[in-house]
Amino acid sequence: MPTALPQTHLPGAIPTLNGRGFMLEALDSYATAFVAAAAAATGEVLDIGCAYGVASLAALKLGARVCACDMEPGHLAYVTEQAQAVRRGALRTVVGVLPDVNFAPQSFDAILASRVIHFLTGPDVRATLKHMHAWLKPGGQLFLVVDTPYMPGWNSIVPAYEAAKAKGEPWPGFIPDFAAVVSNRALQQPGPEFLNTLDPDILVRECAAAGFVVERASFFGLQRLGNAANGREHAGCTARKPG
Ligand SMILES: C[S@@+](CC[C@H](N)C(=O)[O-])C[C@H]1O[C@@H](n2cnc3c(N)ncnc32)[C@H](O)[C@@H]1O
Repeated sequence: MPTALPQTHLPGAIPTLNGRGFMLEALDSYATAFVAAAAAATGEVLDIGCAYGVASLAALKLGARVCACDMEPGHLAYVTEQAQAVRRGALRTVVGVLPDVNFAPQSFDAILASRVIHFLTGPDVRATLKHMHAWLKPGGQLFLVVDTPYMPGWNSIVPAYEAAKAKGEPWPGFIPDFAAVVSNRALQQPGPEFLNTLDPDILVRECAAAGFVVERASFFGLQRLGNAANGREHAGCTARKPG
């Protein structure tokens, strides 16, 4: 019998086991592009911050070799169990915490970090992107998705974020005390201590600083909210390590 996922009060969003947000059941265009790259790759790909494996399992179904990594072992146990049913590709799991988790240089053809690097401080985002650059093979692609200041649960920070951005502050969406800001505590109980909400400009700047060539970056809306989405709840970026 498959392990049951936790109950959710947000359709399409499954709460994580460790208070680090929700896994979204629908793949956005950046995660979809990762899955396509994974299916086309000859080597292994990395899905880091994979939660219950929405992207890893989609890639495995298409025959990819996937390393699924997360800080929460319970998430990886679920992915392992589900992979038995999927079968086609090959799965390895690694319990690891960014920015300290380590992989050998040039291990992966592609990396997805979907809605995970906003749990890191600015310096740790920088360290993480440098590590990811090292872990990718030349020509390999990085797919990033993050939450932005425009998410309904914490969009009260938007005026402060926009003012800090106008002043050129490097991390204008940083929320030092998440519990004090989040409008609906039911969103996460308990939540993370802080959240470093990001935007496409920051993703472009930091990917370029880490040595990547950025191919695409944009805001996009939260599909779960349909017409209620403002179109800027998430940001994504695709970047390539020069070949
Ligand atoms: C919001 S969920 C995103 C899940 C999925 N990738 C998605 O886009 O729907 C964040 C996931 O990242 C993991 N995570 C958070 N901080 C992490 C860190 N520093 N290192 C590794 N994993 C982390 C959490 O355990 C959780 O599974």
